[in-house]
Amino acid sequence: MNAYTPRPDHRFTFGLWTVGNTGRDPFGFETRAALDPVRSVHKLAELGAYGVNFHDDDLVPFGSPAAERERIVKQFRAALDDTGMKVPMATCNLFSQPLFKDGAFIANDPAVRRFSVKKTFDAIDLGAELGAEVYVMWGGREGMEAEAAKHVGTALDRYAEAVNLACAHVRERGYQMVLALEPKPNEPRGDMLLPTVGHALAFINELEWPEMVGLNPEFAHETMSGLNFTHAVAQTMWHGKLFHIDLNAQRIGKYDQDFRFGSEGIRDAFYLVKLLEDSQWSGMRHFDAHAYRTEDEAGVWQFASGCMRNYLILAEKAERFRNDAEITAALEAAMAPQLSVPTSPGGLGADALATIRATSPDIAAMTSRGYGHERLDQLVTELLLGVR
Ligand code: GCO
Ligand code: MN
Ligand code: MN
Repeated sequence: MNAYTPRPDHRFTFGLWTVGNTGRDPFGFETRAALDPVRSVHKLAELGAYGVNFHDDDLVPFGSPAAERERIVKQFRAALDDTGMKVPMATCNLFSQPLFKDGAFIANDPAVRRFSVKKTFDAIDLGAELGAEVYVMWGGREGMEAEAAKHVGTALDRYAEAVNLACAHVRERGYQMVLALEPKPNEPRGDMLLPTVGHALAFINELEWPEMVGLNPEFAHETMSGLNFTHAVAQTMWHGKLFHIDLNAQRIGKYDQDFRFGSEGIRDAFYLVKLLEDSQWSGMRHFDAHAYRTEDEAGVWQFASGCMRNYLILAEKAERFRNDAEITAALEAAMAPQLSVPTSPGGLGADALATIRATSPDIAAMTSRGYGHERLDQLVTELLLGVR
């Protein structure tokens, strides 16, 4: 046991589909056997995780009869009871079955849409049955390649309708559950709707019950677009909409990698962990990633431990950042604390506007001042490189 040993109170969770990933990719078949969900629960508990999340089909295979569903859920619940593991989030697979090839909620065929909403209702019920308080909506197939085939505005109408129906179902059943939309720019579709955090935040404003809907941003997804994930999360928090988070690693400009958290982009991962820790975010630290295709089952558990360990190492770096006197001085030199001073301390009234109009600063002094960012950034770099 040391400071980097994961414990349940660190709130680390994994998807059944993450440790259960079999290494299949668009060019090659599975490289390892599927994992029994019960085994995943036991192994993750042993490694110090808090809980597991799942798509409906990860737990109960698509098309299972009711009796089979009951048997599987009972076994799974017994594993949760034995280990104390929780299910904080649930979601629905609306992308694997071929019938979703033209989309689920935005399929042109109304019958596909209705089935997708029904499958969503069932997944919400399954999640609620196992205690989930967050329901994630990732629109895996909600996009297009043939631009002519779908009118985007109309598709957004249907997307909003489906999210509203899911909210109506949660309300009618009386579940304590919120919905979290997960933006992604592409993969598997050429272009997906709600491609970024910004698009999704704006979409929420058009919903029937916007207070029930927030976001599940993912490190890899904003990074694929070359966007700053930490900024995306910070703005999501600023809107009060961070309901869940998907952690992994990704390099800009590559395919959807889903690598072990912290394995790429350490600096970006550090600022993200710092943001979550500084703001004492109370939600789950969920990993949506998988082991390299080269790994056997032992490698999968190395991968899972590595995700949690890297988070804890970066959390410790964030604490050192806070307590480092030189970094504090460099932040002061950069005037970082003054950003909290309102631009107009008097507010928005006539006097305040007059004060702003009458301002006559020392332009030469403002122009010639240096902010010491080179020193500040070098201190952080040295902290991350382990020499301070
Ligand atoms: C992806 C997504 C998914 C979702 C998951 C939960 O790129 O495939 O990140 O892993 O997070 O389907 O809804
Ligand atoms: Mn992803
Ligand atoms: Mn994800």
